[in-house]
Amino acid sequence: MTTARPLEGRHAVVTGGARGIGLAIAQRCMASGASVALWDVEAAALADAVRQLAPLGTVTSALVDVRDEDQIARAASQSQENFGGIDILVNNAGVLGPTVSAWEHTPAQWRNVLDINLTGAWLCCRAIVPVMLARQRGRIVNIASVAGKEGNGFNAAYSASKAGLISLTKSLGKELALSGVLVNCITPSAADTAVFADVPAEHREQLRSALLARVPMGRFVEVDEVAAMAAWLASDDCSFSTGAVFDISGGRSMY
Ligand SMILES: NC(=O)c1ccc[n+]([C@@H]2O[C@H](COP(=O)([O-])OP(=O)(O)OC[C@H]3O[C@@H](n4cnc5c(N)ncnc54)[C@H](O)[C@@H]3O)[C@@H](O)[C@H]2O)c1
Repeated sequence: MTTARPLEGRHAVVTGGARGIGLAIAQRCMASGASVALWDVEAAALADAVRQLAPLGTVTSALVDVRDEDQIARAASQSQENFGGIDILVNNAGVLGPTVSAWEHTPAQWRNVLDINLTGAWLCCRAIVPVMLARQRGRIVNIASVAGKEGNGFNAAYSASKAGLISLTKSLGKELALSGVLVNCITPSAADTAVFADVPAEHREQLRSALLARVPMGRFVEVDEVAAMAAWLASDDCSFSTGAVFDISGGRSMY
């Protein structure tokens, strides 16, 4: 049954939680009663985020690069020590990578996007699934993208990483179906966040307009809209969905 604070007593780890969609998800989880650990690589943004969220409840932060399994292991142990376990993992950390033809990515650029967006999420699952299994309960929410369903032109590494994340969601969902740990992903269309900051200024507006033109509802998704869906997927109200892909694209991808 839905309550006003459906995540009361739960502890959530949000990767890439220092700003944008991750910060909105952390805020929504806290407003729903959860304590939250923000994992991110941006120290100053983390400090700002903690200041912003502290009035809502218990929030901690850790400098964690999701490419680094040792940093993940240390932060996961910290969460377990401080909060007695981890109930919710939101794999949100992500980068867009270069906006160029598929064959023009350098190998280093390609690997970096895959390392952060896909392998990073897998490394976090690798560390935290056993923690959830020990208590036979948990919710994992992966922030993928419509790009992972459709394969955006000129963002091949990004699109491939998000397709991989969708597939990881399905594999894990099947493997954990009887365990009490549910795994789902969200595929937003474009949100107006700093994810576009690395796109050269002269191409940024063009890219944003092209992305927006594909959305029948004709606007960016608000970070709070993604956060509301993530918080529901993190709650006990989500009880019979796993390995599933939840669309939030204003009608762009109706499948
Ligand atoms: N903004 C969009 O249009 C959009 C659309 C669909 C999906 N998404 C996905 O949503 C997620 C959040 O994106 P956003 O729009 O809020 O972008 P953002 O750039 O505002 O936030 C991303 C966060 O991830 C952190 N991060 C980057 N690399 C990291 C690493 N190696 N380890 C830990 N943290 C790292 C950044 O410091 C930042 O705080 C991403 O996975 C993105 O792909 C975004």
